[in-house]
Amino acid sequence: MSPLVAPSILSADFSDLKKEIASVEKAGADWIHIDVMDGMFVPNITIGPVIIKSIRKHTSKPFDVHLMIEKPERYIENFVEAGANLISVHPEVCIHLHRVLKEIHNNGIKAGVALNPHTPLSNIKYILDEIDLILIMTVNPGFGGQKFIHSMVNKIKDTKKLIKESGKDIYLEVDGGISIDTGELAVKAGANVLVSGNSIFTSSDRERIISYLKSL
Ligand code: DX5
Ligand code: ZN
Repeated sequence: MSPLVAPSILSADFSDLKKEIASVEKAGADWIHIDVMDGMFVPNITIGPVIIKSIRKHTSKPFDVHLMIEKPERYIENFVEAGANLISVHPEVCIHLHRVLKEIHNNGIKAGVALNPHTPLSNIKYILDEIDLILIMTVNPGFGGQKFIHSMVNKIKDTKKLIKESGKDIYLEVDGGISIDTGELAVKAGANVLVSGNSIFTSSDRERIISYLKSL
């Protein structure tokens, strides 16, 4: 099956988000990836529930919300109310990960876990029952437009193996530096959701990039 493509609006023109989202939707986006950063877990600060709520009414595409914030448990309800369809949290800043995943599920949406490049898969091995999506960071989180870390290809392969052995239906998403050059590596290794920000939003032909990624 062809991979899903989730453009990251981090690289969009924030002064015209409505138009930017309509543009990638028209170009074939499956999900909209929304990067929430708090200036603590990562050096950058981006957007919060208020903005998500305001763009929610302009698209029916699922919102894939990637929380790069400390103690994400404080804000799960806010992001669900704002319109998230899936929330991913980082175990590096979440002491009671299993509890938070349960809380996301109790709110009626899907739950993901995002792993920094150095974070081992063993962090999630025993709690796969509560996980709908594993997000492998292929850059260090914080900024769009960074270079894909090639040693993550083996981690994607290991993640695919873990999912297969579990017999569960879990998405394998990759995030960071995904482009025409790197998308194939990620898909061949087992990724089935491709986040891509800079490559899509800086292109004059967004449809070409998205359809290429979907063809992999
Ligand atoms: C990085 C973010 C990514 C990023 C991807 O911290 O989680 O979603 O925006 O953007 P590109 O494709 O530009 O690396
Ligand atoms: Zn992201």
